[in-house]
Amino acid sequence: MDRIRIVGGAPLMGAIPISGAKNAALPLMIASLLTDETLTLDNVPRLADVAMLKRILGNHGVDCMVLGKRAGQNGLQGESIELRAGDIVDTVAPYELVSRMRASFWVIGPLLARMGEARVSLPGGCAIGTRPVDFFIAALRDLGAEIDIDGGYVIARAKKGLRGNRIVFPKTTVGATHVAMMAASLARGETVIENAAREPEIADVAACLVKMGAKISGAGTSTIRIDGVDRLNAARHAVMPDRIETGTYAMAVTMTGGDLLLEGATLAILPTALDVLTAVGAEVTATNEGLRIRRNGNGLAPVDVTTEPFPGFPTDLQAQLMALVSRANGTSHIRETIFENRFMHVQELARLGADIHLDGQMATVTGVDRLKGAQVMATDLRASVSLVIAGLAAEGETVVNRVYHLDRGFERIEDKLGACGATIERLSG
Ligand code: EPZ
Repeated sequence: MDRIRIVGGAPLMGAIPISGAKNAALPLMIASLLTDETLTLDNVPRLADVAMLKRILGNHGVDCMVLGKRAGQNGLQGESIELRAGDIVDTVAPYELVSRMRASFWVIGPLLARMGEARVSLPGGCAIGTRPVDFFIAALRDLGAEIDIDGGYVIARAKKGLRGNRIVFPKTTVGATHVAMMAASLARGETVIENAAREPEIADVAACLVKMGAKISGAGTSTIRIDGVDRLNAARHAVMPDRIETGTYAMAVTMTGGDLLLEGATLAILPTALDVLTAVGAEVTATNEGLRIRRNGNGLAPVDVTTEPFPGFPTDLQAQLMALVSRANGTSHIRETIFENRFMHVQELARLGADIHLDGQMATVTGVDRLKGAQVMATDLRASVSLVIAGLAAEGETVVNRVYHLDRGFERIEDKLGACGATIERLSG
């Protein structure tokens, strides 16, 4: 299994091209199931999760073609892929595939809307929480589907097609908002989704669906209106920049010191997190190329943060923030409210010398003067990158094991950081 070796201490200097967002690319690729014409996606990140989803969509009959490099491209840009679900030959998403990547459960919406049936394996729990799918099932029932759960599968039927309705989510959910929005696009009549997720990835998917001919308004707010149409058509759409990758590198340079340009990033996609970073000790400047992040030289200040749905502080940056404030001049408090088991990185950061006390969903982080390199274990995607950030600032050598977690969501991380002065390499096998 690959590992990543880091020798810490160097400030990060230079520019990092921000990749397309994993959490937009996945639902965008799934939206290809809604039409028998070609959906072309640009700026698709080269990630393990994207590769896995291509396999899963192929299982339903989707042709997926990666377009070759174009003149003027240097190969560091994201991929351009053509997806065409001319014929959906299979409406079953098997356990063997869904269990490998949870978001593949989201195919249930487009399959049901277009084919009137879907049999999708329950995704099961994951390292960060139980993550049930009850809100998905309730929303699809609101749209008129009959749903049974049998043998670990969700069996959904709507032989006469879906019909528009009012959907009220008891709690904000990104995945179920994506799925309800996609399914309602082909339902008869109007759907209104209330307490919808407002994450920028929702608006990015809605923008693509509108290009395909859907009638959607209000995406990005907590009330989304969809007027169903009979069919959706071919379109071309570029995946938005990855705000979690942006926040991760911004925290890295704030921890190591230095001056980084995050190419393609904007303030709008990461409001609260950038405010928190400024409070900790970063200078954040919007430029024509992206966001410039520099350490302000006053040492790191402690902060109190609670993770929340957008526009609040993203749970996907919680672990990275914890690594950052482990070197702050004082005590920080981080409360995790989205997932019930998202502190797996705490014990690993402690191996590097961090001083973190857990009490339920609250982490108290008492800043230390120095971190010291060690062997550490990645447990999930975001936890693994918090160990990389801490390793960049630790004295000596850190080795992060099980980096397959990292490859699921960070494109060429060692190349990007290495190009900015970090001593970082991948050790294969
Ligand atoms: C998306 O997951 C992201 N994944 C997650 O990123 C992210 O952490 C999460 O949104 C929150 O921002 C993708 O976009 C692929 P939710 P999702 O539905 O949709 C509960 C990463 O690191 N819930 O908004 O699964 C759920 O258990 C990943 O890139 C139900 O109870 O998250 C959680 O506590 C990790 N029943 C809360 O709602 C349901 O039916 C929010 O989950 C659905 C959700």
